[in-house]
Amino acid sequence: MKTKVSLTDLAAMKQRGEKIVTVTAYDAPSARLAEAADVDILLVGDSAAMTVLGYESTLPVTVDDMLVLTRAVARGARRPLIVADMPFGSFQVSNRTAVKNAVRFVKEAGADAVKIEGAGTALSRVRALVDAGIPVMGHIGLTPQSATMLGGYKPQGRTAVEARRLQAAAVALESAGCFALVLEAVPPPVATHITKAIRIPTIGIGAGASCDGQVLVWHDLLGLTDGHVPRFVKQYADIGGAVLTALKAYVADVRESRFPEKQHTYAMVDEQVELFEAELAAGSLGRSRT
Ligand code: KIV
Repeated sequence: MKTKVSLTDLAAMKQRGEKIVTVTAYDAPSARLAEAADVDILLVGDSAAMTVLGYESTLPVTVDDMLVLTRAVARGARRPLIVADMPFGSFQVSNRTAVKNAVRFVKEAGADAVKIEGAGTALSRVRALVDAGIPVMGHIGLTPQSATMLGGYKPQGRTAVEARRLQAAAVALESAGCFALVLEAVPPPVATHITKAIRIPTIGIGAGASCDGQVLVWHDLLGLTDGHVPRFVKQYADIGGAVLTALKAYVADVRESRFPEKQHTYAMVDEQVELFEAELAAGSLGRSRT
């Protein structure tokens, strides 16, 4: 087995121009498959709120929810770096609560690093977390936890002023100590300039091909998303369709008594069946028929 992906490996990959592959994961079997496919980073995204927990946004998911998912992912994969997304409310209040919650992800759930959104108060949080020895991935551009403040789930950095603001945020997050930076839904020219301006790797999602790596949400990539799929998604399979076809076949087989068949059952020798039936007939199994 290859050794665990380290922060140094990621920095070296950027230097060598090797792309960093990231995917979200929320359970052990997915983590196992992602590892088998040689993914570098598994992000236990707070997108779990929508993809697996059925919420309308990422806001309601709790630290306790995310700890369960992160633990499952950490049990499923050894080599990829495991990054736990700090959910809304778990780091905004103070540096102290941010560190307290991040420690839980590392200590109780096996995360190697955490991700936090934004660049305002987040800068001070990044410094506090890094001081506490916890590696931090930043996230700017479309930051779903502040979608309401941003006017909805909209691309960011489409004017020169906004682009400059994003570039300044990226540089500040690097100085604060982030080891990598997610750029979500920003135009490629902006992502290109940011990627050149900072030494830490940029991981793009809807940010074009010049980023040092890419991330996609598991359910989007595999065709499991119910509802709107952003334009930046490339769907690599229709697992949702395959699951639905299989479930419909199962439903029909059960209803038509085609399942289970003989090979799905356990054998019992005839002699024992006859004995059992004789005992039943004699009423010797404790329940009289009269
Ligand atoms: O929560 C998530 O899945 C994310 C990725 C989209 C970057 O933050």
